[in-house]
Amino acid sequence: MNKMDEITALAKRRGFIYPGSEIYGGFAGFWDYGPLGVELKNNVKREWWKSMVYERDDVVGMDASIIMNPKVWEASGHVEEFADPLVECKVCHHRFRADKVGGNKCPDCGGELTEPKKFNLLTEVYVGTTEEGKQKAYLRGEITHGVFVNFKNVVDSTRVKIPFGIAQIGKAFRNEITAGNFTFRSREFEQMELEYFVKPDAKEAEKTFEFWKEARMNWYVSLGMSKVNLRFRAHEAKERAHYAAKAEDIEYKAPFGWSEFEGIHNRTDFDLKNHKLTYKDGEGKEFTPWVIETSGGVDRAALFFLLDAYHEEGERVILKLDPRLAPYKVAVFPLLANKPELVNMARQVFDRLRLSFHSTWDDRGNIGKRYFAQDEIGTPWCVTIDFTSLDEATVTVRDRDSAKQERVAIDKLPEYFQNKLSV
Ligand code: GAP
Repeated sequence: MNKMDEITALAKRRGFIYPGSEIYGGFAGFWDYGPLGVELKNNVKREWWKSMVYERDDVVGMDASIIMNPKVWEASGHVEEFADPLVECKVCHHRFRADKVGGNKCPDCGGELTEPKKFNLLTEVYVGTTEEGKQKAYLRGEITHGVFVNFKNVVDSTRVKIPFGIAQIGKAFRNEITAGNFTFRSREFEQMELEYFVKPDAKEAEKTFEFWKEARMNWYVSLGMSKVNLRFRAHEAKERAHYAAKAEDIEYKAPFGWSEFEGIHNRTDFDLKNHKLTYKDGEGKEFTPWVIETSGGVDRAALFFLLDAYHEEGERVILKLDPRLAPYKVAVFPLLANKPELVNMARQVFDRLRLSFHSTWDDRGNIGKRYFAQDEIGTPWCVTIDFTSLDEATVTVRDRDSAKQERVAIDKLPEYFQNKLSV
């Protein structure tokens, strides 16, 4: 099996990601996150929010609604421009993105392809209570405009002053022509974005662009992604989105090739101008700010963190996820499941640790098998309560990556894991 197949199988087997609506045959481009997947994704989002909002004086957060007045999408240019080039096979009628197939032969049957035409990616929905009164609206194609249309609200209701940013995480929807590569190209996905507003000054915008580009790359590296699997790629003019004057992607070396999972964009005053929004500075000078945007995909980040963490060592599969991202931080085992004194003590340790760290319990099979199972889901530490624990009130803590064990006093365990997690 190649690495993509390994990860897809592991994700399903261990409860990270399942195909959407699977018992009804699935639904192309939609995925469901299981008990471990939701933890991984929440951890990615929590770390992002910490670094983008909590650790900064100049950024505030918000959460806009998914469905907005359709006029938003007319003003933003999405109704007109948010499109990919579509070609259709004249023989089998399969449809493809023209920029993803080389030449004019159908990849499925070799038939001739039509000339490309614009295919709008916005997903339509109908809102209203009567058939006649139903109004066409859109599921947002990017989360961004919820921030722009609230620009004035945020300025008026908080103490932000330019330069400042508004951060948001949420679902976006695109009617992709070809979904694929597992969750990489989905029709429903989550984005984590910062819209950073600066004075209308090309030099300042460029400086800010460079700052955020580096900051975003460093964030992935700080969470353990291998530098050799990461690179920047500048967009050529013809591939830039309709709103971007400059765009660079952070790409990951995926098994299916270098692939974008975050874009840094200079959106100039394109969006605020379209929404007719301005800003007044302390001296009463009115202007339209420029926007530098960082736009990451939560699902793509989760997929690439999984791929990057995946290691095989002989028979062992180890997910070497950064402990901050790991679904469980700690697994607690009684050495033997049929010794009530060990089980009782292990239960007390588990109940104490779970208050501070997402923890899991396992008393099935032998210790070796339990380690094996925890390695495969990336649990960084396994705590075993053995006979020495009964006499000395200590436990063994086994490290996932080194497989080394050390004895730690039970009353020191919370501090021990806290220190490890804050490294
Ligand atoms: N607001 C800017 C914007 O939406 P984008 O480059 O179109 O820019 C940003 O999207 C990020 O959203 C991408 O880098 C990717 O991580 C994620 N993304 C976009 N389309 C996606 C899809 N079909 N499936 C999963 N993630 C997607």
